[in-house]
Amino acid sequence: MKKLKFRNGDTMDAIGLGTWKSEKGKVTEAVKIALNNGYKHIDCAATYGNEAEVGEAFSEVFGKGDIKREDIWVTSKLWNNAHKKEDVIPALKQTLKDLQLDYLDLYLIHWPVAFKPEVSFPEKAEDFLSLEEVPLIETWNEMVKAKEQGLVKHIGVSNFSIEKLQDLMEDTDHTPEMNQVELHPYLQQNKLLEFCSKNEINVTAYSPLGSGDRPDEMKAADEPSLLENPTITKIAEKHGASPGQILIKWSEQRGTAVIPKSTNEKRIKENIMSAGFQLDNDDMKEIAELDYHFRYVNGKFFEMEGNSYSNIYDD
Ligand code: A2P
Repeated sequence: MKKLKFRNGDTMDAIGLGTWKSEKGKVTEAVKIALNNGYKHIDCAATYGNEAEVGEAFSEVFGKGDIKREDIWVTSKLWNNAHKKEDVIPALKQTLKDLQLDYLDLYLIHWPVAFKPEVSFPEKAEDFLSLEEVPLIETWNEMVKAKEQGLVKHIGVSNFSIEKLQDLMEDTDHTPEMNQVELHPYLQQNKLLEFCSKNEINVTAYSPLGSGDRPDEMKAADEPSLLENPTITKIAEKHGASPGQILIKWSEQRGTAVIPKSTNEKRIKENIMSAGFQLDNDDMKEIAELDYHFRYVNGKFFEMEGNSYSNIYDD
């Protein structure tokens, strides 16, 4: 299994278990299966609404003692309604309580967008706070404090464009250590990867399999399937692997972390077995040609007329 290295020498397994869309009734078992089958990296977020159920798995597995907390990497994310200075550390503490942990390995600002504290998901422009009201640096400085207090070992961001990263880096000496973004063969993010690599920012790929179980209202009518893409299925046949394993391996080979979500025992096990084979140059070249800038999770939704968000992405 490849590992990503952080600036202080800490390492994180490249393949982790994603928990976005994992149902409350299934996620405890899924995390237990993952931890008992070699996963050492679990990706969570407050807004997924299932951290308490993930926490039950941690409590049970770490309580037994065969697997130690310090050998597992746990990431979580600050939701957009807790960006105000006074809300960041309380939100983090709630996540720690839900996950039944006393520290996180990595904490991320989930989106470069702030909602009013009482809003879980915005429906109108008035549901947002503007960047003037809560500049990202205000939120980031609290993330730095959380690290200094030992509540988290590493801090970073998610869904940040190059421009957003640059803006933040101009205002702080604490460069984010991670940017977690949507990343797969239809959205290869080459420029962002290059920028992050130059600045020692690790990258995690979310929705690596095409995020098939999102609610219907989030899906475009003409949405392409990644798992059924003919290039991917052809390469899968060549290696005697599944299409999912090809997509996971592709991310891992490009030096990013990758967090496929599954609550199915067979697929949880299959996904981590992706670490065991290599794609060759021809495979990588063919997959490189699939890029056409398609997003399954389009943050442009947050750009509402009348709020201050107009440039979520670089292009
Ligand atoms: P399930 O949880 O039933 O396994 P993403 O990580 O891109 O959001 O994709 C998650 C979706 O892909 C879920 O619907 C998940 O369903 C499914 N999935 C996870 N692993 C595989 C796999 N190896 N092959 C096919 N589908 C998979």
